[in-house]
Amino acid sequence: MKSVKVFAPATVANVVCGYDVLGFAVDEPGDEVIMRLNDKPGVSLLKITGDEGRLPLDPDKNTVSAVVKHYLNHVGRQDIGVEIELHKKMPIGSGLGSSSASTVGGLFAINTLMDNLLTNKELVPFAMKGEELACGYGHADNVAPALMGGFVLIRSYEPLDIISLPCPQGMHAAIVYPEVDVPTKDARQMIRSKVLLKDAVTQWGNVAGLVSGLFMNDYELIGNSMTDVLVEPTRSILIPDFYNLRVLAMEAGAVGFGISGSGPSVFALTKDRETATAITQKLQQHLQKLAINSLAFVSEVNKKGPVILD
Ligand code: HSE
Repeated sequence: MKSVKVFAPATVANVVCGYDVLGFAVDEPGDEVIMRLNDKPGVSLLKITGDEGRLPLDPDKNTVSAVVKHYLNHVGRQDIGVEIELHKKMPIGSGLGSSSASTVGGLFAINTLMDNLLTNKELVPFAMKGEELACGYGHADNVAPALMGGFVLIRSYEPLDIISLPCPQGMHAAIVYPEVDVPTKDARQMIRSKVLLKDAVTQWGNVAGLVSGLFMNDYELIGNSMTDVLVEPTRSILIPDFYNLRVLAMEAGAVGFGISGSGPSVFALTKDRETATAITQKLQQHLQKLAINSLAFVSEVNKKGPVILD
């Protein structure tokens, strides 16, 4: 029986100023998908671990199986039988692209078993269907970096235009997840749908500045550009002591700091691993004082995207 085991990485979407248009992948955490082909047509989800029973096993409702079905329809192979095991190795509703890591793992697995009929970039629209199922909107700023690795810009959604961006050698992310639940669907509904022109001007200046900083290896420009006047003022309310966390991270040497995706995870970009580790320790100590448990992850920006484990 043909089978594959895949790891797909977590992602930091938005990167502060680029709501729905910027994201990068990290080495950890991530999800694992085991997939086997059989001769009974159809897609079945055999088991999910690490989700505390929160994810549906119905193959039409679970994002992993739903996107695999969509893929098989697209390539005209509804005759194939697929069994899936999903092993969640990261918290759900954390702002780290949890649903994205699972769907990307599933798509990468089926595409591997189909001898790579599509490129990873061509898998992005399929993964976006999974995001639509998970949170009501098919945003690509988690799934594109999870599939393609590195930093990614969604220049346009219609038509879809995705650009891989460089980043300075050795750039690390310090991520802290305060253990409070923030479903992406709710966090998206909080945001105002109309913005002031003066705020839009500030925002697109910063997006352009961040992209330029990545190309120019200019950490000062990257940090100065990590400002969000559109989304963060609203979403920060959901994150315990957000503005003090920022002060602590910046004092400890962060290049920039903000909300990861829709939160509640926060992240800092740093020039090296030591600074990232020191930042996670400070933030975790602070959250502990507030009686909030947290998880921390330190990772270089992941350049590989999903990988086959064995
Ligand atoms: N861009 C999305 C949002 C990312 O901010 O809602 C969700 O992780």
